[in-house]
Amino acid sequence: GLKIATIGGGSSYTPELIEGFIKYHSELPVREIWLVDIEEGKEKLEIVGNLAKRMVQKAGVSIEIHLTLDRKEALKSADFVTTQFRVGQLAARELDERIPLKHGVLGQETNGPGGLFKALRTIPVILEICREMEEFCPNAWLINFTNPAGMVTEAVLRYSNIDKVVGLCNVPIGMEMGVAKLLEVDHKKVRIDFAGLNHMVYGLDVFVDGVSVKDLVISLITDPDKSITMQNIHAMGWEPEFIRALAVFPCPYHNYYYKAGDMLEKELENFKEGGTRAEVVKKLEEELFELYKNPALAVKPPQLEMRGGAYYSDAAVRLIHSMYTDKRDIQAVNTMNNGAIASIPFDSAVEVSCIITKDGPKPIAMGDLPIQVRGLVNQMKSFERVAIDAAINGDYGTALLAMTINPLVPSDRIAKVILDEMLESHKKYLPQF
Ligand code: NAD
Ligand code: G6P
Ligand code: MN
Ligand code: MN
Repeated sequence: GLKIATIGGGSSYTPELIEGFIKYHSELPVREIWLVDIEEGKEKLEIVGNLAKRMVQKAGVSIEIHLTLDRKEALKSADFVTTQFRVGQLAARELDERIPLKHGVLGQETNGPGGLFKALRTIPVILEICREMEEFCPNAWLINFTNPAGMVTEAVLRYSNIDKVVGLCNVPIGMEMGVAKLLEVDHKKVRIDFAGLNHMVYGLDVFVDGVSVKDLVISLITDPDKSITMQNIHAMGWEPEFIRALAVFPCPYHNYYYKAGDMLEKELENFKEGGTRAEVVKKLEEELFELYKNPALAVKPPQLEMRGGAYYSDAAVRLIHSMYTDKRDIQAVNTMNNGAIASIPFDSAVEVSCIITKDGPKPIAMGDLPIQVRGLVNQMKSFERVAIDAAINGDYGTALLAMTINPLVPSDRIAKVILDEMLESHKKYLPQF
């Protein structure tokens, strides 16, 4: 049987993951799941871990659930390590969202200054986990869900000795599910050729039963009621002539780039009414943990669907299943580019459709991105690479460079103001600076 170690086990998403392992249990013989957290997350770990125990018991599957604060013990001889942690908890996310907003810049978990600082806090921790993996489970696969998932995965690929890493996001599976719903077809018939970066991915083509429906999908999503999005992103619909001319299927996060002004306005409005997404999530989380505490509950409650991570378990367990069985089906993940997308450096992480094998994801060659999106993707990749360098070297100039070249930051002066304030507020979680 397989041993899974889940770092950030106290996450409210854990029941989602457990549900996935239960569903697949006959084909994916998981024997032990070790949920790991830190002192600050102890209480959450207890509550969600006990729910996980009730879930496997009710389902009648023989999976042992272990709860621990001892990461090394959890990693020992693990086959798969999944990561879903948040350095600095939601309080840090709140700062990531609020500080840029004060200066008229988008405040978002993985985009703009917020995404930069989430990377700066998270990369040192993931590299520490990699060093422990070298010692305690050198053959394990690391399935990273921790945001910013693209940059975190690239940091592992370029700056650790762990090569067996896959970065995972629910956006690609969410887009496929969205298309299936829109066209009222079974999601298994839908396939999208994905290429780009995490939260900056495009559907280059969209197929139902192998026939392209890209133009139809693009026409439909001009209607705001039909736009495909996630719970955490307010989609407004696209200008029909713009999206037809773009000629590729954008992901929900492209709202922040092609509708930057409108999204910022909307965010400021939300902020005045009830706070940023972090505050919304705080309330949702409190409600969820109240439900999780109920000893009569032994399934994933539907309220979890209010979070942005829909289909996380499907994506994670489907990936692990295909790797374990050498299934060779197609899934979009974050992995080393190696030339799959021309004009993005070979040694960069990209989010791309891959054949999933026992030796990991093999990216499908996509050629180059169409000229109309190539520049933005390359600009984001430049930002990501500089941001990763800053996370590693803790150099002020490198961090300011990353902040300034981010497409959502309007000037070097505002970049510096935001950078200084965020460096100060997050000091506790930035040992490298
Ligand atoms: P959360 O705030 O509930 O954090 C999860 C747990 O991580 C908490 O219990 C916390 O105590 C713990 N933690 C913090 N630092 C840790 C450390 N150093 N080691 C071990 N555990 C630690 O977060 P969440 O909302 O459940 O999200 C978890 C992560 O998953 C975040 O990084 C989030 O951005 C990411 N996420 C990714 C996707 C995706 O598409 N890839 C989707 C949803 C969420
Ligand atoms: C989407 C993204 C995730 C992101 C999440 C936020 O699912 O793919 O990467 O972390 O939404 O959701 P939340 O409910 O925390 O705002
Ligand atoms: Mn390496
Ligand atoms: Mn994501």
